[in-house]
Amino acid sequence: MTAPLETTFEASDAERIGGIGGRIAVFLEPEGRMETLARRVNRLTRGALARLAESEAFKRMKPGEGHLLSFPSGLAAEAVLAVKLPKKPSAEEARRAGSAIAKFNGSVPLTVLLGGRAAMPDILTGLLLRAYSFDAYRKEDPEKPAPNRAVTLMVNDPEAAEAAAAPVRAVTEGVFFTRNLVSEPANVLTTVEFAERLKGLEAHGVEVEILDEAALEALGMRTLLAVARGSESPARVVVMQWKGGGDEAPFALIGKGVVFDTGGISIKPSAGMEEMTMDMGGAGVVAGTMKALALRKAKANVVGIVGLVENMPDGRAQRPGDVVKTMKGDTVEVINTDAEGRLVLADVMWYAQERFQPTGMVDLATLTGAIIIALGHENCGVFANDDGLAEGVLAAAKAEGEGAWRMPLGPAYDKKLKSRIADIANVGGRDAGSITAAQFLQRFVKNGTPWAHLDIAGVAYRKDDTDFAPKGATGWGVRTLDRLIRDRYER
Ligand code: BES
Ligand code: MN
Ligand code: ZN
Repeated sequence: MTAPLETTFEASDAERIGGIGGRIAVFLEPEGRMETLARRVNRLTRGALARLAESEAFKRMKPGEGHLLSFPSGLAAEAVLAVKLPKKPSAEEARRAGSAIAKFNGSVPLTVLLGGRAAMPDILTGLLLRAYSFDAYRKEDPEKPAPNRAVTLMVNDPEAAEAAAAPVRAVTEGVFFTRNLVSEPANVLTTVEFAERLKGLEAHGVEVEILDEAALEALGMRTLLAVARGSESPARVVVMQWKGGGDEAPFALIGKGVVFDTGGISIKPSAGMEEMTMDMGGAGVVAGTMKALALRKAKANVVGIVGLVENMPDGRAQRPGDVVKTMKGDTVEVINTDAEGRLVLADVMWYAQERFQPTGMVDLATLTGAIIIALGHENCGVFANDDGLAEGVLAAAKAEGEGAWRMPLGPAYDKKLKSRIADIANVGGRDAGSITAAQFLQRFVKNGTPWAHLDIAGVAYRKDDTDFAPKGATGWGVRTLDRLIRDRYER
């Protein structure tokens, strides 16, 4: 992976602007007034910014969009990006401005003239998120200059800016941890390797336990183990505890970590199967959130538990028609071995409730193709047994600009899960596929546990660039969960 951007704050000094080499980003307010640093750029360029501000082009620009001035006379810099941003921008406008600056970054040093902008943290968020890329397996092109990683942020109060930037750095590092995990191919990120990488969170103060197959057997996590049977990689459950909140019960985050999903004996068609390296996305988001909480020393108790398995076809693999007993004690008829995520989550969710009696529980999973049919790649599906928690998740997602949409649950959907011979079947037919999957999970939620299920199959991984991530792993959910915990569960 390309190293993340190195951002350094420096005290505003208008006198220096003319001599700054490389590229410069500056902000222009539609309200017309220019801030000190912008005014200086305008003076040195003999009014170029003022003319832009008066232009038709500027009127047509959206807040957060930039206009490029190449080789401006009067400046040492090779280019200036003038970013349109209202005096009091929305968080989304400020993040988009940061994203525009990230796209403007080239192979020469970049200086951003922030001055006294209160929206700095959101601008920084957009800048850092969009500048990410995963190139771990690509050799460098000797013909191409290396991308610039050094960004100077000129601000009026560097010390205050550094303090305000700290939580932004924490959460974006969490997002990058998730993106890196999701981007890794399955021959590298095996269940065992995944668990090892999570162990690395101990360096940040997270307590990490790795449960091996003997331990899972002893706990009775048979449906999780049944999924793993077809693979050479053994199952692992990893328990990550962040204890920042005194002795109250923790909030629980549960993640589906299928490092590769072939479908098992109910094998998937080969076209596009390579994308199933991202089927550990839920576990990746849980891991990234734990890292963010630890880095910003969140004042909350949160436990993250992930079920790591690989779903492969093999002589030892489970078959359609098998009946398996869950840790809860209910039996499941496995109609389709490709509906494996719910089998993993059922046991992990039950374990989380038995061991921790959490104050609430959110699970994340790339659970169904049906959620992509319903919502596409713009919104994650939110299912919940508790309106307060559902609203908390939706509000946090909205504030962070991560799409989320509530989906229904109900007894009529649950009926679809009737089995010929067991307590429940693992599929409910084609209709409402993401809802029946959520109903399956709800069978493993205890009465009284507020619970939300986030089906992230459409949002965890995208084939197109977005404002905040290049194509591939998005890290969707780390910022939403971090904010949910900050707004609702922190002391
Ligand atoms: N991992 C898949 C869901 C998925 C599909 C994630 C596309 C990301 C992109 C899941 O395990 C699965 O195979 N679900 C089946 C369930 C069906 C057999 C009831 C599906 O959605 O087709
Ligand atoms: Mn599957
Ligand atoms: Zn899957």
